Amino acid sequence: SVPTGAQATAAPTAPTAGAISKEVTILYGSQTGNSQRLSKKLGEKLQAQGFQVTLSSMGDFKTNNLKKVETLLIAVSTHGEGDPPDNAIPFYEFLHSKRAPRLEGMRFSVLALGDTSYEKFCQTGKDFDKRLEELGASRLTPRVDCDVDYDEPAAEWMNQVTEALNAASGSSSSAAAAAVALSGAGIPGAAVSEYSRTNPFEAEVLENLNLNGRGSDRETRHIELSLEGSNLDYEPGDCLGVYAQNHPRLVEQLIEAMGWNAEELVPVNKNGDQRPLREALSRNFEITVLTKPLLEQAAKLSSNGALQELVSEGREADLRAYAAERDLLDLVQDYNLKGIPAKEFAAILRKLPARLYSISSSSKANPGEVHLTIRKVQYEAQGRERYGVCSTYVAERLAPGDTVPVYVHQNPNFKMPQNPDAPIIMIGPGTGVAPFRAFLGEREEIGASGKSWLFFGDQHFATDFLYQTDWQRWLKDGVLTRMDVAFSRDTDKKVYVQHRMLEKSKELYQWLQEGASVYVCGDEKRMAHDVHAALGAIIEREGGFSPEEAAEYLSRMQQDKRYQRDVY
Ligand code: 2AM
Repeated sequence: SVPTGAQATAAPTAPTAGAISKEVTILYGSQTGNSQRLSKKLGEKLQAQGFQVTLSSMGDFKTNNLKKVETLLIAVSTHGEGDPPDNAIPFYEFLHSKRAPRLEGMRFSVLALGDTSYEKFCQTGKDFDKRLEELGASRLTPRVDCDVDYDEPAAEWMNQVTEALNAASGSSSSAAAAAVALSGAGIPGAAVSEYSRTNPFEAEVLENLNLNGRGSDRETRHIELSLEGSNLDYEPGDCLGVYAQNHPRLVEQLIEAMGWNAEELVPVNKNGDQRPLREALSRNFEITVLTKPLLEQAAKLSSNGALQELVSEGREADLRAYAAERDLLDLVQDYNLKGIPAKEFAAILRKLPARLYSISSSSKANPGEVHLTIRKVQYEAQGRERYGVCSTYVAERLAPGDTVPVYVHQNPNFKMPQNPDAPIIMIGPGTGVAPFRAFLGEREEIGASGKSWLFFGDQHFATDFLYQTDWQRWLKDGVLTRMDVAFSRDTDKKVYVQHRMLEKSKELYQWLQEGASVYVCGDEKRMAHDVHAALGAIIEREGGFSPEEAAEYLSRMQQDKRYQRDVY
């Protein structure tokens, strides 16, 4: 496989006269590992064709080497409101600062991962693409923007890049190169299993319990699945991809509103596979999210003037406001789309993507099993009850004995320290606590002696203390050293995990100075943001630093992989 952060020594090739060098640098900015996996795949592909590949996370890349890079390939995802992944931030800021060098000699291409249901679709990729051009670099092949279902466009981008590089370096992909077997994602420690995102394993449900007590506002399911016979394995911090089914009521309402025949066969993919409409709407297509491309294509299929107006130039804000919290049923009712044939409509729908959940078990402690911690999402909008697709499926329609298609999604950016004796601080309110049950299960199993500190929070102590008995047992056994909890609705004043952290400011800073790694899992928008601010404040206060120095401290921790986040 391709070495990380170092030059491959394999396949030395003398440069052909007049041709440009075969050195290629691939940088990825990855939050959950998709860009990283794709980059490794590209690296292996290019290496097999005689290129000398340097593959690195943006976070590990030494920016003073940038000037020397002749060919730069970037794969980067976009998060939240158009933000770069954590490990891309320093490089992103460097490139957009005055310190960035001129890059006249460089050729580049960008693969952008994103989601069309967000306004700032693929923004980080777009920013890199634009900025590299501004700095004088020339585009090797056009940027490719991928929606959630990225496999095909990503493969296409890799082919374009490979062809362009071969053309530019005066070589063609030789027979020898073609004979080299490419080894898939190639992340070290990858389980050898035939099952993957595109070929999920039908896992049997062993257990499905509500973790919340009676009277709670919440319903959080603890699910145990069997991986027996799959050869699937995982490490603490990894996620499980789960293929759910849409709510049967929504499917029926949609079929009725459109006047469709539920038994009609419709194509469900580009291979031409067909399925009865009811089943296709339940398993294959996304019907709960309205994206801009979907609205645009729906407008083309209908003669509705109001919908055509909504997707016209300059109405972006109205379109976004409409799409938020509305689903396909709203769309077909609001714009009277009845009459569009099911086949035509199905052709414009996105594939129902798998949902990723942080695994809450250690495979060492629970061989052949995987546990999940899933909170049911249900709310009212536009006068109708709305259901989170996967969480509702799991909570209401998945019983022991049933099977569900799953795959392991490795998350290289949420990993315990290599050294089992290193201290860890875990911050996980709500279902954010899931991976920490895996962390401690693993540490118990391997007899790790490192200190550990857990911050947990939820609404009420009596009904919402997820996995309370596990934590208490680990506290007693010394697997867990400290635990601080924040129950936000038991007192007049809201108490959150970050308040507990600030109360323990001195000790927490002491742990950081001793080399503790910090893990944050859970809500991104508010919690992770507030926790980040609290960490900054603690470092400032206890270390006697300025706000800039504290930010630098955190940024260094992030680069050293001592501050990792799994936030959503
Ligand atoms: P709340 O619902 O009472 O506001 C898990 O969901 C816990 O996270 C709940 O106790 C919730 O409190 C809390 N929470 C909400 N916003 C938060 C924030 N900005 N920072 C930390 N915790 C938060």
